[in-house]
Amino acid sequence: MHRFRYRGDALFVEEVEAARLAERYGTPLYVYSAGTIVDHYDRLVSSLRELHPLVCYAVKANSNLSVLRLLASRGCGFDLVSGGELYRVLRAGGDPALCTFAGVAKTSQEITEALEAGIYSFIVESREELAAIERVAARLGKRAPVALRVNPDVGAQTHAKVKTGIAESKFGIAAEEIEELYRQLALFPNLFLRGIQIHIGSQIRDVEPFEEAVRRVIPLVEIARDRFGAEFFDIGGGLGIAYEEALQSGDPGWWESKAQWATPARYAQRLRPLLEPLKLRIVVEPGRLLVGNAGILLTRVLYRKDRPQKKFVIVDAGMNDLIRPALYGSFHQIVPVARRAGESIEGDVVGPVCESGDCFASSRRLPWVEPGDLLAIFSAGAYGFSMASQYNSRPRPAEVLVEGTDHRLIRRRESYEDLVRGEQIGEDDRATDP
Ligand code: LLP
Repeated sequence: MHRFRYRGDALFVEEVEAARLAERYGTPLYVYSAGTIVDHYDRLVSSLRELHPLVCYAVKANSNLSVLRLLASRGCGFDLVSGGELYRVLRAGGDPALCTFAGVAKTSQEITEALEAGIYSFIVESREELAAIERVAARLGKRAPVALRVNPDVGAQTHAKVKTGIAESKFGIAAEEIEELYRQLALFPNLFLRGIQIHIGSQIRDVEPFEEAVRRVIPLVEIARDRFGAEFFDIGGGLGIAYEEALQSGDPGWWESKAQWATPARYAQRLRPLLEPLKLRIVVEPGRLLVGNAGILLTRVLYRKDRPQKKFVIVDAGMNDLIRPALYGSFHQIVPVARRAGESIEGDVVGPVCESGDCFASSRRLPWVEPGDLLAIFSAGAYGFSMASQYNSRPRPAEVLVEGTDHRLIRRRESYEDLVRGEQIGEDDRATDP
């Protein structure tokens, strides 16, 4: 459920008219609804309440400081994958003791930073990484909390680029190797095993693969608990959201019509019987679920180009602002900010970037649009701005957070000066190899 809806023919974000935000802050513009983020967080926590979960929001989905602050203020923890994400969480006032740190390629500098900050646990992805954490911990005279990421070899119905729990993917440790790592752990005085983690992929809409993965690793989790006193089982993130009918999914009735979907309630209901008997702290790492449908990208139509073969609606947002359609072929619902009666058109919605892949929708039936009109691209709150770039030397867009009738700029639009920050054409830093 989210808080983007039409009142009459005008699209509103909570209590604010989307068109007014576009006028005030310009386009392209990311707009997030604070109420939706909090609502999604509260729903997940309450669905899982019997398990007393620790929710570690996956920062990569949307790492704006104000979004992190909003979640931190609800007691949310964070799932990190880089030193940069740790820096952001600390800047936003997040609690490092509620942070897990995953990723296959942690550097010794990142390991040092995380140990010094006092994170809850490293999520270890290989035998070599375990040894690297031991070395850093020994140097700092600390005992590092670690969890092993088990690759459960479970496929899920999702895009190949975001499947992470199959044996062919680079993530995690094969179940057959875990016993050997348990032996190794006993030899490392500066490490202690705090938990086990799995994460099978992203945008997964059925509960079965989650259930199957949990079932498969339970024997390993029991060993971790009984032999090493491990205290948590982290079941990862990956819960999917509505893209095709994103606007409609703001309506509770829509959810009832999707009986097979992995909503937080169904996810909790199916996993609880497996998890409760473990008597462990359950950690979840949602990203998209919390923020995906809490954000839209507002863009203005600049031109139309009508050819006999195809019509184009040319907008001021590009693949550099929202790369998901170009990178994964993802579907994002696109609706007018002001609905008007009349005929519709069928065409491609394309951006300014000099690549044919810069296309938000192809052969899409849209309501009538003309240059100057505003469009809202839905489900842009997750992996939208966080994957944006300056490709084609396009300054990245501004971000705004709406809360009831209030709205505030949480990231200013970049300037041309921002584009060249850190670059130089002088001779100052020239070095010559001996
Ligand atoms: N935990 C780990 C270890 C992860 O790798 C991820 C996402 C998550 C949690 C959060 O997954 P979520 O709940 O958001 O599905 N850029 C892609 C998605 C990449 C997901 C990467 N890992 C997209 O735009 O669809």
